Amino acid sequence: MNLFETMQTQHPTLPERYQNMTEEELRSIVERVKNKMGSRLFMPGHHYQKDEVIDYADVRGDSLKLAQLSANQHEAEAIVFCGVHFMAETADILTREDQHVYLPDMRAGCSMADMADIHQTEKAWTRLMDAFGDTILPLTYVNSTAAIKAFVGRYGGATVTSSNAARMIEWAFEQKERILFLPDQHLGRNTAYDLGISLEEMAVWDPIREELIHEAPYEDIKVILWKGHCSVHENFRVANVEQVRRDYPDTNIIVHPECSREVVALSDYAGSTNYIIDQIENAPPGSSWAIGTEMNLVNRIIKEHPEQHIISLNPRMCPCLTMNRIDLPHLAWSLESIADGQPQNVIKVDESTAIDARKALERMLERA
Ligand code: 13P
Ligand code: SF4
Repeated sequence: MNLFETMQTQHPTLPERYQNMTEEELRSIVERVKNKMGSRLFMPGHHYQKDEVIDYADVRGDSLKLAQLSANQHEAEAIVFCGVHFMAETADILTREDQHVYLPDMRAGCSMADMADIHQTEKAWTRLMDAFGDTILPLTYVNSTAAIKAFVGRYGGATVTSSNAARMIEWAFEQKERILFLPDQHLGRNTAYDLGISLEEMAVWDPIREELIHEAPYEDIKVILWKGHCSVHENFRVANVEQVRRDYPDTNIIVHPECSREVVALSDYAGSTNYIIDQIENAPPGSSWAIGTEMNLVNRIIKEHPEQHIISLNPRMCPCLTMNRIDLPHLAWSLESIADGQPQNVIKVDESTAIDARKALERMLERA
């Protein structure tokens, strides 16, 4: 389900009582329910979540780690996902029928995931099949709806995350001559480029204009990139890199591969959120870093690493607005409603979609 469809479905909004509580009261609700439920409750938290939420996460991780942990979570009956909608859907797909997944605020979507809907994808597929025949394997970044994952699963493809995109693209080329990469053109382009595929061998499918943008003749095209992007990472620009190089020449620039090709090419390192954290953790004390990723994570890394000099690659950067929808009031509401036996904001992927989406996820998890 994309965010628009989610909002069409009536979901209750945060009751006023939680809006009027003090931070202390909210924290005490969260702690009380967590203590009461113990291992019956599991709360994974993505690195981009606010500190007030991460404080209570049982684990924090990148998309891959959280998908792996969800798949291996056999004990909890309630999974309160501190992340965005597609992550909670993934957790639902990978857990048992009797385990229930909740998203504290249904408005916590992902603008990138919303850039590929299933109708556009089916239309694109028909057109691409006409043009290229049965030579394409679809891959989708996990930042996509369950319906897109199911589509990819049905056609023999797999999901990828920013941690394993290279491995999955290599695997895809063992199956077919070319790939369709949804919905993030930048992760697809950056990863394929690193694997030695030239920019000319990549085409872009524009789902709005329903056309393929390409330079090379069809027979030379290896990668078809969906024209989607992350509205947070697009705010890191070449000008930001140039400014840091000018003002702080000794600074290492490290960015997430959701940034554009130009930004990644000018940076020193690129990788997933876990990769960024590991690089800084393992760097010699006193080293300097400019990080190009979401601000909640950058601020947390700055706080946790006083021994390093760390700045954001873009000084005007702000957090991901949809990740930020999950906050202490929503967390307290979600947990209390579960404890009271009247859970809100249940994430349930219908079984026929889940069956095919699971195939796509499992093909990735087997190789992760
Ligand atoms: P990773 O956690 O895989 O690095 O992804 C970042 C992201 O944008 C999640 O929405
Ligand atoms: Fe989506 Fe970008 Fe936010 Fe990640 S950071 S949830 S890709 S909008």
